[in-house]
Amino acid sequence: MLDILNLDELEARARERLDPMLFDYIAGGAADEWTLAENRAAWSRYQLLPRMLRGVANRSMSTTVLGTPISMPVVVPPMGFQGLCHPDAETATARAAAEEGTIFCASTVSNRSLEAIAQASGGPRWFQLYVYRDKGITRSLVERAAAAGYSALCLTVDTPLAGPRERDRRNNLRMPGHLKLANFDESHTAMHHHGAGPGSSLAQYITAQWDPALTWKDVEWLRSIAPMPVVVKGVLAGGDAALAVEHGASAVVVSNHGGRQLDGVPAGITMLPAVVDAVARRGNCEVYVDGGARRGTDVLRALALGARAVMIGRPILWGLTLDGADGVRAVLQRIRAEIDLSMALAGCATLDDVTSDLILHA
Ligand SMILES: Cc1cc2nc3c(=O)[nH]c(=O)nc-3n(C[C@H](O)[C@H](O)[C@H](O)COP(=O)(O)O)c2cc1C
Repeated sequence: MLDILNLDELEARARERLDPMLFDYIAGGAADEWTLAENRAAWSRYQLLPRMLRGVANRSMSTTVLGTPISMPVVVPPMGFQGLCHPDAETATARAAAEEGTIFCASTVSNRSLEAIAQASGGPRWFQLYVYRDKGITRSLVERAAAAGYSALCLTVDTPLAGPRERDRRNNLRMPGHLKLANFDESHTAMHHHGAGPGSSLAQYITAQWDPALTWKDVEWLRSIAPMPVVVKGVLAGGDAALAVEHGASAVVVSNHGGRQLDGVPAGITMLPAVVDAVARRGNCEVYVDGGARRGTDVLRALALGARAVMIGRPILWGLTLDGADGVRAVLQRIRAEIDLSMALAGCATLDDVTSDLILHA
């Protein structure tokens, strides 16, 4: 098993294994990467105030998201092109998540089809949707996800266009030709290799295919065609979280897409309290957060501030790069161990004990 000291050290280890162009695609962020750095820095602004002598010999961190039991409050977020990391791609990550008792969210732009991922994992799974200009494509993805047992639709709303990834422009990023957008047939994926001129072919694909005209009305349309709950991923403003609930979302992810979209925006954890406040006044909506969460203490901070679960992105891909499904399992086991120890030291036997007074000045 991959020996992991902490999640942060994995980036440097994975860098040694990957083509620099592909490493940059995964590690990089938008423009000056201010938000990318802020995502990591923001967590430590919340100081933890532990409680003593509360009897923490028996601890549990199991919980549920949208009614699905998970073994810890960590969910694997949607990340495209996992074939860049390992030949087993998304099937390995999905299997690892299932074995560790949590949810794998499959990206629209996966290198394995959503059906193949479902078959490989057998575990609880969500499908992340990018909405195509061609409504027929969108509708077909939703129907296929429902048929393949995906229990939630995760609609990513922060990507009307590809973000300004300067590392990718500098490297003239081209995805390796053998990696297919496995949810689509050849005639569709061929477009993705036709990119020419400045910018990456992926950015050109996004511009050509994804619908920048999307509005909150389309969330209602999706709700009407999807038999499963809709999770809106990529809100930062409390007002947007409120709109998500009003238009039928069952959950929101407070996220800036790992610092890959609009540079200069705050970290998800910074906006979490405002979002929690906005949705609390509108009934039943779960709130998740992501962006730079790397420590068990980060997960504790998020839960204390009102999140139900945390998504941890890039370290999963580094684990996949280093040791396939076993590497992803090792990453999930390391974060589980950190959450468990942090809970004990903070005086929390269960997640119900992780309340807002765990944060200084909350
Ligand atoms: C390489 C890469 C690919 C991603 N692909 C997607 C995607 O297809 N859909 C999506 O909604 N988010 C995507 N994301 C964003 C992640 O879901 C998540 O919000 C982010 O990685 C969390 O930040 P972290 O990596 O700092 O933990 C991607 C992120 C990375 C690093």
